[in-house]
Amino acid sequence: MILKNIDKVDVNDQNVHTQLKKIIKDLADGKEIEKEKLLFLLKTSSVNELVYLEELANEIREKYYQKKVYMRCLIEFTNYCSKNCNYCGIRNKNLEVSRYRYSKEEIIECCKEGYELGFRTFVLQGGEDPYFNDDRLVDIIKGIKEEFHDVALTLSVGERSKESYKNLYDAGCDRFLLRHETASKRLYEHLHPKPMSFENRMECLRNLKEWGFQTGCGFMVNSPSQTDEDLLEDFIFIQNFQPEMCGIGPYVCHSKTPFKGNENGTINQVRFCVALVRLLVPNALLPATTALATIDNSGREIVLKSGANVIMLNLSPKDTRKDYEIYEGKVSFGDEEAHGKYLVESKINEIGFEMDMEIGNVKGWNDVY
Ligand code: 5AD
Ligand code: SF4
Repeated sequence: MILKNIDKVDVNDQNVHTQLKKIIKDLADGKEIEKEKLLFLLKTSSVNELVYLEELANEIREKYYQKKVYMRCLIEFTNYCSKNCNYCGIRNKNLEVSRYRYSKEEIIECCKEGYELGFRTFVLQGGEDPYFNDDRLVDIIKGIKEEFHDVALTLSVGERSKESYKNLYDAGCDRFLLRHETASKRLYEHLHPKPMSFENRMECLRNLKEWGFQTGCGFMVNSPSQTDEDLLEDFIFIQNFQPEMCGIGPYVCHSKTPFKGNENGTINQVRFCVALVRLLVPNALLPATTALATIDNSGREIVLKSGANVIMLNLSPKDTRKDYEIYEGKVSFGDEEAHGKYLVESKINEIGFEMDMEIGNVKGWNDVY
């Protein structure tokens, strides 16, 4: 079990608490931390340390992004997938999934609706669907960019060749999300059957960054058999890679997968991981994920207070939305959908945040490139 004390209060004596606080403070100050100390933090932290960690994470988020929460419009445009990730409900071998894919026209229609609602970032997410070869994706990217001049486009379509990523970048795609899922080779191989490979996933991420995408990695919290040692690898990888975005959500079990019966990640585990990543990559765009909203009604709002600063709302056509069920019970209506933006707005205003509908690039992006 990861972060085994994270739901407990007062388990650490004053001496241990002081040591842990020092580690957290050093991380917030950008100091090099030995692996052993970071592991000690993971193995020992309880709610008391989490509260301190969040306090510092919030200060950092505030320094870069103030109270802004960047809004994204999510379009799940295909649920066909050639892969068989052991945790995922739309894996190829799940024959119970009713499969769909949208045409270019349908996708642009969704974007129009999103644009009218005020969104300026579109996230096109899909399974690894061979139908969407480079020609088709390039055509879609160009179509969107011709229609809307002041938007950012994010793709999340999995692993592709270096050349393919270049084609997508040259066509005008700005950002790319590819969660690394875990930086531990052992765990990666437990989560992904062959021929998926840890080395290829890492290579893809390096290539995306090299071409100039704002690149997002990320991982699931409490994925089956994950240990604190595995988590440690994630934090070290993230610190070195310095992604522009990092998606962190709980693992949520899906019964039509080989991982049926495994335990979901918890809200406190996710709070801890998000806050720690905020310290390691101070200017990162960190979403409050839908998976979190699925395990806890106020999950998204809670994690904004841990350092997250992005919310993605679903704008896929309603009739197919339920078919993009990567985990069981995935919420996609009400305040999860683009049309529910006013619901979200009042929820986040209540806790002192402001909705920001601008393009919302990572801070420092224009200065550096
Ligand atoms: N629980 C939580 N997250 C999941 N994902 C896929 N399946 C699950 C699950 N059962 C996440 C993966 C993937 C992203 C699109 O969704 O991290 O990268
Ligand atoms: Fe396909 Fe992505 Fe699900 Fe893996 S996680 S099976 S690549 S949709």
